[in-house]
Amino acid sequence: MRSTKWVAGFAAVALSVGVAACGSNNNSSTDTGSGASTSAASSGAKAKKIALLLPESKTARYESQDRPNFVNKMKTLCPDCEIIYSNADQDAAKQQQQAEAAITQGANVLVLDPVDGASAGAIVARAKQSKIPVVSYDRLILNTGDLDYYISFDNEKVGVLQGTALVDKLKKDGKSGSVVMINGAPTDNNAKLFKQGAHSVIDKSGFKVAKEYDTPDWSPDKAQSEMEQAITAVGKSGFVGVYAANDGTAGGAIAAMKANGVDPKKIPITGQDAELAGVQRIVAGEQYMTVYKAIKAEAEAAAQLAYDVSQGKTPDAATVNGKTNNGQADIPSVLLTPVSVTVDNIQDTIIKDGFWKASEICTGRFAAGCKTAGIQ
Ligand code: GAL
Repeated sequence: MRSTKWVAGFAAVALSVGVAACGSNNNSSTDTGSGASTSAASSGAKAKKIALLLPESKTARYESQDRPNFVNKMKTLCPDCEIIYSNADQDAAKQQQQAEAAITQGANVLVLDPVDGASAGAIVARAKQSKIPVVSYDRLILNTGDLDYYISFDNEKVGVLQGTALVDKLKKDGKSGSVVMINGAPTDNNAKLFKQGAHSVIDKSGFKVAKEYDTPDWSPDKAQSEMEQAITAVGKSGFVGVYAANDGTAGGAIAAMKANGVDPKKIPITGQDAELAGVQRIVAGEQYMTVYKAIKAEAEAAAQLAYDVSQGKTPDAATVNGKTNNGQADIPSVLLTPVSVTVDNIQDTIIKDGFWKASEICTGRFAAGCKTAGIQ
């Protein structure tokens, strides 16, 4: 049985992206998008069913960026296509059921961001039985030769950008000593790559790693308790910086620092996703950096790929710009470039791209920081 709390959470999310019809009890919906153009109405696109299966809702990007951008692009490409949408709330078994439900509903292609990259091969195998192509979205589905495409960012580079920003800042401030590492979910192949990229920089920087944790479910609450444990173990002055794999975990770590009398303004901490709360913490000086990934470009490219595949068209060779080995095969890939962001380039990246407006960032207590940084 689904809890009341969850149902209420989904209702809020559904409203925010203009869903017309909700699934009964499968955390799923038929998504019509908002403000979609109908310019392709006469393009001859065949009405197909496209399933978008996202992994979680604690990280803001999925409901606020990935989903609406995917839906809007798909509606432009194919006004008559139907989108079957589900969010697995970090539950791999639930995601498997959602995928099966999408197949039963007649999905012609699955765009799957796996909760668990290793076990999601079973979903690909099931889809293959029904001759349904699968696009691995943002996170790689491992150890299957049946996967059709993979679309993501250069995820090891994300970790390199985070590690480099942290180490350079500490060196610039004349610091030496240890850092704490709060990594992402052990079930997420991206988290492994972020960690690998960050270690490749930190391990040869002269800074030691005092404590390191993998954070189940990417949960900000769990990141908070990991940081509490680190502070208890090494003491308030036992670390000079924190590697946090994304903005959600950074938020948890910062809450733990504040609760223990450690000033986050004096301890640089990394992030990722350019979540509004993360960008605001950067403006306020509480978080040092984030990694901006152009999620709109990623979601739109995924919609284009899914559309092409569902219509039996060959995707544009210029878009499919690489191959990624998933342990069993080289999967044709679309790989986008992540960008390191501190207070100095928020204007030229996030705001320039329209990812967030200055008016969204610079509210209330963040107005002063924006003014100092010239963000407008
Ligand atoms: C990763 C994703 C990140 C972050 C994280 C938590 O796979 O690439 O952008 O959101 O999951 O969901």
